[in-house]
Amino acid sequence: MFIERIAIEGFRNFGMLEAKFDRGINVISGGNAQGKTNLLEAIFYLSSAKSFRTRGDKDLVGFDCSFARIEADVSAKYRETNIEVRLYKDRRRQIFLNGVRQTSSLELPERLGAVLFCPEDLDIIKDGAAARRRFMDLAICQLRPKYDAALSEYNRLYDHKTRILRDWREKPSLLETLDDFSLRMAKISAELIYYRSSWCERLQKEASEMHSEISGEGEKLRLGYKTVSTVGDPRGLKPSELFPLILRHQEEHRQVELDSGLCLTGAHKDDIEIEINGNPAKSFASQGQIRTAALSLKLAEREINRVDRGETPVLLLDDVLSELDERRQDFVLNRIRGGQVFITCCEDKSATSRMGDKLFYMKSGQISF
Ligand SMILES: Nc1ncnc2c1ncn2[C@@H]1O[C@H](COP(=O)(O)OP(=O)(O)O)[C@@H](O)[C@H]1O
Ligand SMILES: [Mg+2]
Repeated sequence: MFIERIAIEGFRNFGMLEAKFDRGINVISGGNAQGKTNLLEAIFYLSSAKSFRTRGDKDLVGFDCSFARIEADVSAKYRETNIEVRLYKDRRRQIFLNGVRQTSSLELPERLGAVLFCPEDLDIIKDGAAARRRFMDLAICQLRPKYDAALSEYNRLYDHKTRILRDWREKPSLLETLDDFSLRMAKISAELIYYRSSWCERLQKEASEMHSEISGEGEKLRLGYKTVSTVGDPRGLKPSELFPLILRHQEEHRQVELDSGLCLTGAHKDDIEIEINGNPAKSFASQGQIRTAALSLKLAEREINRVDRGETPVLLLDDVLSELDERRQDFVLNRIRGGQVFITCCEDKSATSRMGDKLFYMKSGQISF
């Protein structure tokens, strides 16, 4: 998949910006706070209708603007799409594919696949389970619109059930619907766990290969998907087989949930265990190992994405390449050939020309080449 051209207006610090990209490696260099990450954020938004930096669309609209527009020509194997997103401060965004207004964003990832790697992704290794769930959810949402829909429904049910558990003492009538919410959450948990389990299995295979190649020292990365304890090993189980196991956990924890006022059972507590050479990466990995592991996860995500789609998603590398030593940089640059890539880095002409096919320079929201 290739972004041939992009036009942006009123997004973050951009006035009007238009650029034509190379189908190989595009390098965007420039000083701090000039708009490099903003450009990647705009591209990523076209692929998912989500920002990787904020939840609120209104943050994306320029401080002095009332609306923002991102528009791009995207070529894929079998079709070309003009994607346009309009964002407002005070109303819902609008999405257009070839000029036709869409009722949802679910079609976007089919038209443009994107995998992003940015410095915050080191949190996937270091932080709590929420960072790993977010990684997993964003990746699977891109591949499976059904998963995206199930996840939204799950989050809605979760918020509702949390409110019941918090307020039932003041308003006992709330308890009438508790079991219904629990049951529906168990049903959707079964679907989410089904997708997550098979995705994690593939991720483990790709990422461990990638990691030992990048580290060049035969380091072993191992990933293990962790879910509701009564499920045990979810690999190979269908949603209908997972459901009764999840339900059992829920029933066993009903009283504890009421006592604590917290929602304690379901797919929202899932995690991916990450080990390097047999030790939990979170507690024992060095800075370099964390960087290599995070990069391996992202390149593995891209590989899964490529196999599923039958074409390579766009890769966005924000400020991560310059942190690697030259050997690792070369490995990555070699490995990512064959698809379109956007790399941002600080100003250093000699290093950037080695990396890319087309060089851009970003200053105060203006792009030049
Ligand atoms: N909604 C917004 N409106 C206008 N400017 C914004 C908005 N959001 C962020 N910015 C500006 O964008 C700049 C940061 O851009 P960014 O792409 O993160 O920089 P970098 O080039 O370092 O990656 C900052 O100057 C910030 O003030
Ligand atoms: Mg940046």
